[in-house]
Amino acid sequence: MSLLPDNERILLGPGPSLTSPRVMRAMASPTVSHLDPLMTRLLDDVRARLQRCFRAADGSFAFAVSGTGTAGMETAVANLIREGTRATVVVTGYFGDRLAQMCERYGAVVSRVEVEWGRACDPDALRRHLEATPADIVAMVHAETSTGVLNPVADLARIARAQHALTIVDAVTSFGGHPLDVGGWGIDACYSCTQKCLGAPSGLAPVVFGPRALERRVKCRSFYFDLALLEDYWLRRKYHHTMSSTLVYALDEALAIVEEEGLEARWARHERNHRTLIETLKEIGLGVLPREGERLWTLNAVRVPGGVDEAGVRKHLLDEFNIEIGSGLGPLAGKIWRIGLMGASSSPRLIVLLGGALQRALSCVTRAS
Ligand SMILES: Cc1ncc(COP(=O)(O)O)c(C=O)c1O
Repeated sequence: MSLLPDNERILLGPGPSLTSPRVMRAMASPTVSHLDPLMTRLLDDVRARLQRCFRAADGSFAFAVSGTGTAGMETAVANLIREGTRATVVVTGYFGDRLAQMCERYGAVVSRVEVEWGRACDPDALRRHLEATPADIVAMVHAETSTGVLNPVADLARIARAQHALTIVDAVTSFGGHPLDVGGWGIDACYSCTQKCLGAPSGLAPVVFGPRALERRVKCRSFYFDLALLEDYWLRRKYHHTMSSTLVYALDEALAIVEEEGLEARWARHERNHRTLIETLKEIGLGVLPREGERLWTLNAVRVPGGVDEAGVRKHLLDEFNIEIGSGLGPLAGKIWRIGLMGASSSPRLIVLLGGALQRALSCVTRAS
């Protein structure tokens, strides 16, 4: 008996999202080695595409790390933080907390700007915090996947820069779905993943270091995430590790699709579909946690109505409709569902399907309990 899935799960959770058919076809191409001349050309193409899609400043180094979004986070932290670095971390949920933990592991003296889960960070709160507690690094999550909240990164990065701090931005749930302008907003290091708004499977983490970050890098304690060694591989073709050609095909094709659609058009599609989902939810009596203006378009934190079996509804959607949605994390466990509309999963057709399925699930699960 094969354990492989025999039909496509409709992935509407916090990630992974659906993989575009073109990306699936790209991954079926023959394997080449990590130093093959063809691979070299692909790596150059990926670098150029990432540079454009991140809107990185001239003199930046954009590339992809082997691993998931967390590997991107670790690459940014491991190359900018050493023992005693003063790091201010904006914590608006689970992934802000992960970022703070990561900074601590690399020896930073961390001070947190703690924000109530479900709210975005007020730029004035960061300004006041930095005036009282100066920092070398300010780290923040753009799209907080645990709460469905968008942080005002352009403003937060401006404040950090005015205090001479470098910024690290987690764009795992925003890159390719929300406006992001690494160069224009003065972000120094930014990372993402492949399995959310880009529409490829997980396995690579796009990362970009701007010119100031490249200058102020520290001696990296990690071998695998060492920027200098990764530059040697990406720029000077020196062996570092056996990078997967299959995943590079996937990322290159996913970025080609993003550029063909156009960044602005893609952001607009994510916004439009998010608004349609909010209307659909309203029609069936469901609301979302974040307030208007702080909501992600890519990840919707939907309040579970009182008396409803949260896990039962998810199980019903999966068993009866082959649809995956996510549960809440930490203090929001049992209180929200997380519905992702990212990349190829951000589509009006899937919203109609989900709306109908959710209605059925709510009535069946409520009736049964
Ligand atoms: C905002 C954010 N940061 C980091 C991560 C970690 O990414 P990964 O699970 O790909 O390692 C996630 C995963 O969902 C995320 O949503």
